[in-house]
Amino acid sequence: MKKILVTGGIGFIGSHTVVELQEKGFEVVIIDDCSNSDEKVLDGIEAITGKRPAFEKLDLKERDKVEDFFNRNTDVEGVIHFAASKAVGESVEKPLLYYENNIGTLVYILKELCKKNKASFIFSSSCTVYGQADKMPITEDAPVKVAESPYGNTKQMGEEIIADTCKVTPSLNAIALRYFNPMGAHPSAEIGELPVGVPQNLIPFITQTGIGLRDQLSVFGDDYPTSDGTCIRDYIYVVDLAKAHVVALERLLAGKNTENYEVFNVGTGTGSTVLEAIQSFERVSGKKLNYKIVGRRAGDITTAYADTTKANKVLGWKSEYSLDQAMKSAWVWEQKIRG
Ligand code: WQD
Repeated sequence: MKKILVTGGIGFIGSHTVVELQEKGFEVVIIDDCSNSDEKVLDGIEAITGKRPAFEKLDLKERDKVEDFFNRNTDVEGVIHFAASKAVGESVEKPLLYYENNIGTLVYILKELCKKNKASFIFSSSCTVYGQADKMPITEDAPVKVAESPYGNTKQMGEEIIADTCKVTPSLNAIALRYFNPMGAHPSAEIGELPVGVPQNLIPFITQTGIGLRDQLSVFGDDYPTSDGTCIRDYIYVVDLAKAHVVALERLLAGKNTENYEVFNVGTGTGSTVLEAIQSFERVSGKKLNYKIVGRRAGDITTAYADTTKANKVLGWKSEYSLDQAMKSAWVWEQKIRG
């Protein structure tokens, strides 16, 4: 059984990926500092897979602890690195926190992996690196735009750090996955998204409004040049996204990668407007959603959806869930956690 370290493994995308890894027979060890996650997620993972993954509560900013972990776990063959701070607004307020959390920790992990004879590394990147792309759908060779926030910058810099390291380290093989907009929850409703405080993202705000936790959803702008005037995003089901990590990792472990640093978009290839997302919620929940149109949100781009051809052809991966199916899973989860 191959042993894989998943940092941030009790977070939203991390926990769904741990489930898929265990279902495929990988041995998982999780590192998480619980700064934005709850240890109870381990119960959910165990309920689904019948196996509780090894877990270490550890702060990756402490370099000696990272070194010590790898010294104790010499059999780790791959790392999926989710652990990072991800609030765009907060990153503008506290840039050094973001550079330390997202860049410092990445460097420490890569330093340890460079000591190995062979190592596989999967990095959580984001479509945010494209900014407002000139052409839709967005292919991987679309230019990376100047980041709008320190958070976005950490994803761009993170990719560059990995690329530079791979150039001089043939034993290191890495893939950056550029996520579009992850959503939904595991079909079992044992794990899902657990936003802390008022959600910044659309989907948890919709489901929390639907359940009555929030009075009203504000739709940020209906004067964009789109079919209904609201922004377009590519909402990808979290289990589909989790599976993309497993196939990317398997590609590296099997030595099937053509270069030692590769980049893939992970989306559905379909864009949906904010109003379409609301309609989807109303369809699957049978409830009317209380919303109002307000002004644009600073920093929002008009349209972003993925060209998934590269992931489809090279990884043999394709998203399976529709927006409605993913929305339904988010709604079932919301009802369960508030029940
Ligand atoms: C989606 C759409 C909003 C909330 C985020 C991250 C970004 C990247 C991708 C990680 C937009 C609208 C939202 C609300 C609304 N993630 N909206 N009312 O903007 O694509 O970006 O995911 O790397 O860094 O910030 O996602 O869910 O915030 O917004 O009308 O209350 O919903 O304007 O059009 P976004 P989102």
